[in-house]
Amino acid sequence: MPAEFPDLFDRVVNLSKRRGFVFPSAEIYGGFRSTYDYGPLGSLLLRNVKEQWIRSMVQERDDVLLIDVAILAPPAVFEASGHLANFTDPLVDCRKCNSRWREDQINGVCPTCGSTDFTEARAFNLMFKTHAGPVEGAGAEVYLRPETAQGMFVNFANVLTTSRKKPPFGIAQVGKSFRNEITPGNFVFRTREFEQMEMEFFVPPAEATQWYEYWIEQRYNWYVNLGIAESLLRIRPHDADELSHYSSGTSDVEFSFPWGWGELEGIANRGDYDLTQHMKHSGVKLDYFDQVTNERYTPYCIEPAAGATRAMMAFLLAAYDEEDVKGETRMVLRLHHRLAPYKVAVLPLSKKAELSGKSREVLKLLQPHFMCDYDETQAIGKRYRRQDEIGTPFCITVDFDSLEDNQVTLRERDSMAQTRLPISDLLPTLRERLS
Ligand code: GAP
Repeated sequence: MPAEFPDLFDRVVNLSKRRGFVFPSAEIYGGFRSTYDYGPLGSLLLRNVKEQWIRSMVQERDDVLLIDVAILAPPAVFEASGHLANFTDPLVDCRKCNSRWREDQINGVCPTCGSTDFTEARAFNLMFKTHAGPVEGAGAEVYLRPETAQGMFVNFANVLTTSRKKPPFGIAQVGKSFRNEITPGNFVFRTREFEQMEMEFFVPPAEATQWYEYWIEQRYNWYVNLGIAESLLRIRPHDADELSHYSSGTSDVEFSFPWGWGELEGIANRGDYDLTQHMKHSGVKLDYFDQVTNERYTPYCIEPAAGATRAMMAFLLAAYDEEDVKGETRMVLRLHHRLAPYKVAVLPLSKKAELSGKSREVLKLLQPHFMCDYDETQAIGKRYRRQDEIGTPFCITVDFDSLEDNQVTLRERDSMAQTRLPISDLLPTLRERLS
């Protein structure tokens, strides 16, 4: 955490609410605990996080394919995956104040009342169960997926036969997952409904270790390339007793959250656990026949599994900055330009009709290429600050001279440098600087 902001968490939560990044869910009804809605800026930021993930994991490679699988799934999927039996947290009740906790998170002391008197731990399954169709009961049960990963295993054969790929290759997915967390909290860090960005990379078993190391490095670099300082990131291999039921090795990419190091993403060597399980339970062959070597084998799977909503929070925390400008505090969100909700804001110097007309011409020129904001109220200095606060990399000011010389002022967020340039140069200049 940047040392200069000991209350960084509160500042970012307040900014999120005040400027429309994240709202508490169902707020007009008093809120719905630990569930959040993404506002006009937050939905753009979250979308950009997901798009950057797809860009790096799918678009810029030729060995990963994107799919989009149903959120509702029958129990058979989770019977096979082991989630029905193993996807549990140890739940304890404090005997003094009746609060509920995850036993592994409280070190034997109740965070509410300090008591050390708890009930025996019970295994609490984190999956949300519901019913499909009008009749409740056996046969109608369905689950909301607790991870997107199973969608890739269940569709392994479909993707293999329709894509002409062969191991090593990956299947990726971005979407919502649901977990009935016992102790959600820390804003959008741990919620019951969240978004994941996961990729299952299927490899010949002998190559698994090498790909595991490769993906740890790739995924760490993704955060660095999108602007998170390396001092705020670390890679932490799991101890043997922490490993999930399917994993023979996991390393987390962790971020220095205001309360300490926390997981952004896990990279796991899942071996052939999932394909083998689904083969056993479904009776369908989920292995691979290599026509070159004449060998049939079940691929091993290396899985980088990230949280989109959690990553968004880390990007916000890492980008938050304040500086003194001529005796005044300037708050600036130094988001990477690819993540910024708006890339450009068009600001007429005054509200006069002729300036609005010219400004809207500029806006129309840019809108097909970039997400733009338009703002004509308040003094120009205040409007620059509003854009700094939400991380907009460039502001364009249209003034009375613009009407004569067809030039505008381009102002850069981080340096606050201003340059004057012809409107006809705007598109190529911004394209280059926002690429
Ligand atoms: N398929 C493997 C898997 O789901 P995980 O470590 O349980 O692994 C992957 O989840 C990522 O999903 C985490 O690193 C985290 O970023 C995100 N995530 C998991 N549970 C979450 C929750 N309750 N709220 C927000 N994000 C969560």
